[in-house]
Amino acid sequence: MRAYLVSSDGGPDAIQRVERPDPMPGPGAVRVAMRAASLNYRDKMVALGGYPRNDSRPVVPLSDGAGVVEAVGEGVTEFAVGDRVVNCFFRDWVAGEPDDAIMRTAHGGGIDGVLAERVVFPERALLPIPGDLSFEEAACLPCAAVTAWQSLFVKGGLTAGQSVLCLGTGGVSVFALQLAKAAGATVFITSSSDEKLERARELGADGTVNYKATPDWHKEVRKLTDGRGVDHVVEVGGPGTLAKSMRASALNGRIGLIGVLTGADGEVNPLPCVFERLSIHGIYVGSREMFADMNRHIAANGIRPVIDRTFPFDDAIAAYKHLQSGAHFGKVVVTIDAD
Ligand SMILES: NC(=O)c1ccc[n+]([C@@H]2O[C@H](COP(=O)([O-])OP(=O)(O)OC[C@H]3O[C@@H](n4cnc5c(N)ncnc54)[C@H](OP(=O)(O)O)[C@@H]3O)[C@@H](O)[C@H]2O)c1
Repeated sequence: MRAYLVSSDGGPDAIQRVERPDPMPGPGAVRVAMRAASLNYRDKMVALGGYPRNDSRPVVPLSDGAGVVEAVGEGVTEFAVGDRVVNCFFRDWVAGEPDDAIMRTAHGGGIDGVLAERVVFPERALLPIPGDLSFEEAACLPCAAVTAWQSLFVKGGLTAGQSVLCLGTGGVSVFALQLAKAAGATVFITSSSDEKLERARELGADGTVNYKATPDWHKEVRKLTDGRGVDHVVEVGGPGTLAKSMRASALNGRIGLIGVLTGADGEVNPLPCVFERLSIHGIYVGSREMFADMNRHIAANGIRPVIDRTFPFDDAIAAYKHLQSGAHFGKVVVTIDAD
């Protein structure tokens, strides 16, 4: 079968195409003929090296995929040949609080990922595709959507009528917008592009701010909330945005600390956390249980992942470059068609 392999820290251009024998499912395992995979910002970090805890070499890249069950090992009870499935980001995080060994089982980083024609998973690392989502749509869910879900609903405890701020229009933020709107929240979103903000409004955003044209976007968010601030922030920016996210937050607000799009270094004054009683939660994707809960929300509300562009398997490196350009809105997908 065809697969890609990250063997160095040379970035997307150094990712190799390889031929590997078809993997065979052992007891409790399932072989999936992959049909689609999606990219996340972290896949660029994996290709460049230094991704915390999950930086094995060589490793098949990408954490998020969907496909069809092709073969099942002895003792498999949840899946049968022909089932449409999506994989979990962490192979071993089923439920509860994870330990360090579990945290090292991130697909496409700590262990082999899904940019291959066939992948064997333990059945605990798979879920049925929710509703009538296509393989391409389902492949968007494991990292970006589950991260947004954990931030807003598991750690954040979001309820109808609350307000949410999403930063930028990448994979995590667009899912946060969709999941929160479906739960009856009022959602604000920022972007560097007015055109992307218009698309966000079409998806239901109640208020938008161009963070390039309005560098003090936190003040604009406060204005949009009549001076109160938002109940939840999905914080993907890191040191360059965190101080403003705190200032955009309402008393008792909750911030899901997710990403470092502005880089990992920088000083942040923590005092607003004290005087505004803010809670900041570190989020690292989520468990299979969270994924399953989210899938019920997706199916019940008819949420469809937003795919910016799809690339064929042979052009997977072009998909990395498209993600790297920042031109996308939502998710970038690679289609896979096993021989
Ligand atoms: N902790 C976790 O479990 C977890 C899971 C998933 C992702 N992450 C992290 O979360 C971040 C986002 O990941 P992703 O996959 O959603 O990325 P992505 O799809 O590549 O999103 C990139 C988008 O972020 C926006 N952006 C860039 N700089 C910004 C800034 N200064 N302020 C506001 N928005 C900015 C831009 O949106 P516009 O073009 O609209 O300006 C850009 O297009 C990354 O740092 C990633 O590593 C963490």
